[in-house]
Amino acid sequence: MGKITEALRKVAEESMSRIEKRQEMTHGYIVTQKTDSKLDSRIVTFHDPTAPVTEQYKMLRTNILSLSARRNLKTFVVTSSIQGEGKTITAANLAFALAEDLNAKSVLLVDADLRKGRISRLLGLTPRAGLSDLLSNGVPLSDALLDIGVKNLTILPSGEIPKNPAELLGSVKMRQLLTELRGKFDAIILDTPPVMSVTDPGVLGSQSDGVFLVVQAGRTQRASVQHAQQLLNQAHARVLGYILTNVEYHLPEYLYRYIDSQPQQPVVVDTPSS
Ligand SMILES: Nc1ncnc2c1ncn2[C@@H]1O[C@H](COP(=O)(O)OP(=O)(O)OP(=O)(O)O)[C@@H](O)[C@H]1O
Ligand SMILES: [Mg+2]
Repeated sequence: MGKITEALRKVAEESMSRIEKRQEMTHGYIVTQKTDSKLDSRIVTFHDPTAPVTEQYKMLRTNILSLSARRNLKTFVVTSSIQGEGKTITAANLAFALAEDLNAKSVLLVDADLRKGRISRLLGLTPRAGLSDLLSNGVPLSDALLDIGVKNLTILPSGEIPKNPAELLGSVKMRQLLTELRGKFDAIILDTPPVMSVTDPGVLGSQSDGVFLVVQAGRTQRASVQHAQQLLNQAHARVLGYILTNVEYHLPEYLYRYIDSQPQQPVVVDTPSS
């Protein structure tokens, strides 16, 4: 077994033992939902800042903040190989966790899944305009950015479903928009569709500072993850790391399977289903 794998296994086991201890104290994944909020209960970082799952998102935040400080990274694409691996829930929780950071970073969560954006619904919003409208209808940025009353967090919804999402995301206008947004925010999280279905994540990944690949443990085949990574590499998108979802106590085994040949340290996030 390589030194990296062994080190990762140790980190994973230690973190799981911490999480298990906290689960015992808090009776598992029970989330104290804030009843006066329209936000989906799976935005655990908002509803229950002390839940074990929130802790896992905070670990992810710590890794990202340290990466961005060392390498001056700001824009991050969240994607996965196939559909339904937990990209949107991960991107949203990550944005909330980053916004809660005491260093008061201004965070933008962009719904860049122009085909079936779900973030508005997840946050209980009914936006007038979104990303696709900025790119195709000449809508001003101020009309699309939403303040949802969470400190340091702004939302850019996906907008009306366009006929040509990949072209819009690869347009000069999109590049200009990202440049403008970089000037306004400290961290930008872009939720996207799956890599193996459409080209959008590669297109956005090449314009961003890096990509996080969500991997659903117990479902996604290793070959699919490798294929997704190849597609992203071909698009000149840089994979910064993996986020494992749907992981429970069998975590170290999955770590072996996914990262044996990969140097990046995966982060584990396990959210309760709706
Ligand atoms: N960390 C997690 N652990 C377990 N289940 C999760 C996790 N994150 C999300 N899920 C569940 O997985 C399902 C899909 O989540 P989500 O919509 O975020 O996936 P997605 O990758 O964005 O899907 P799509 O490809 O359709 O955009 C949901 O039922 C959600 O509750
Ligand atoms: Mg999604």
